Formats: sequence, C-alpha cells, structure tokens
Amino acid sequence: MTPWAAHVLTLYPEMFPGPLGVSLAGKALGEGRWSLETVNIRTFSDNRYQSVDDTPAGGGAGMVMRADILAAALDSVPRQGRRVIYPTPRGVPLTQSLVRALAEEPGVILLCGRFEGVDQRLIEARGLDEVSLGDFVLSGGEIAALALLDATVRLLPGVLGAPESLAEESFENGLLEYPQYTRPIEFEGLTIPDVLMSGHHARIKAWRHAQSVQLTQHRRPDLWDAYQTRLAVRPPQTH
Ligand code: ADE
Repeated sequence: MTPWAAHVLTLYPEMFPGPLGVSLAGKALGEGRWSLETVNIRTFSDNRYQSVDDTPAGGGAGMVMRADILAAALDSVPRQGRRVIYPTPRGVPLTQSLVRALAEEPGVILLCGRFEGVDQRLIEARGLDEVSLGDFVLSGGEIAALALLDATVRLLPGVLGAPESLAEESFENGLLEYPQYTRPIEFEGLTIPDVLMSGHHARIKAWRHAQSVQLTQHRRPDLWDAYQTRLAVRPPQTH
C-alpha cells in the first residue's frame, strides 16, 4: 500500500520537515509510514525577479499571491484523491474530527500562503479547503501546515506507541482531558489525589470524568454545550 502522502507548496521548503523530522512523526517518516514532499512555489515564477505576488486589485496594503503561478505549482502535483488545504485565519477551524478524516484519506496537499493571501480565483478554481488554526494571525501558512500534519500523522496506523491512549485524550470524547500525576508521591508539599492511589478503577474513572467535565465547563463552554447536545441526541451506551 502506498503510504499516506503529504505535499507542501511553500516559498520556504527549508522549514520542512523541521519538527516533523523528530520524535514520533520523524520516526514514522523514516519508516515510510508517511511521505513528505515540498514544492518551491518560486520555481513556478514567470519572471526574472522570481516574484510570485503582485499588488492587490482595488488597492490597499501588502501583496497577493498570483493565481496563475500558484495554479502552475499546484498542477505539478498529482492530486491522487487528496484535498488541497489552504491554511488561513479565515478558514474553518481545524478540529480533531477534521484531523481524523484526513488520516483516513490518501494524504493531503497543503498550500502555504504568505503576504496578504492568495488570489480568490485560485481558491475557487482549484477547490481549496480553507482551514484555520485559531483566532490569531501567523506570518504564513507553514507553521499551520506543520501543526496539521503533526496532528494527522500521529493518528496513522503504527505511528503512536500506545494507540489506546488516543481514546482518552482531549476532544476524542468531546471533553478536555483530566489532570495526570506520577511519582514522586509528594512534590513541594503537594500530594496526588487519594482516589488515584486507591486502585479502585470505577471510582478513578468517575473522578476523571468529573474533572474533565469541570475543566470543560470552565475553559470551553462552547465544547460543553456541544457535548450536552450530543448526549441529549445520543445517550451513552451502558453495555
Ligand atoms: N495563516 C496565518 N494565520 C493562520 C492561522 N491562524 N491559521 C491557519 N493558517 C494561518
């Protein structure tokens, strides 16, 4: 089977694999569980200045990446049933459910923007999916692409050492993760909650769930609302 394949179109190919070359993702890359190729957008420039951008139609600050140059760069990559994702603060939020979906697909093509963005006609003509990491502005799409790839690659078969830890982590059940403790038993006068030392699995499970609920209610009322709505529609199975 061909491994999960990522192509990244960027003006800064030297940013890749970067952090994806170490730890879990790096090991999996070395083992051929996924592949990563970069395409330098600048090599598709049509002028002797090697520029890929121009001033915005209608005026205003900054520069816009040209549709024709980006299309040539994109069309040089075989699509192979993959989505083309354009990381941008105006995209739909990146969520764990999108990450899970991407991990099931043949791979992903990422188009990293710089400057004020890319020509809207390219987004429409090539059916780009605009995805945001959050309500803040990065200086380009590369760090967002790295984050999306990191989140996705760790879900690929054989990448994570202990796949059972996936089921418990934040967002997998719609709640934030409960607090964790390990030795030493006492740290700067602080102890580990008694229930965790009790060996009573049902009580530990209940305590962890209550902690998750409390954290989610306080930090992420949006997630808590969604969790309750889901519970109302589809109550948890008791067997
Ligand atoms: N590019 C710039 N800012 C971004 C963000 N918040 N999310 C995704 N891509 C971006």
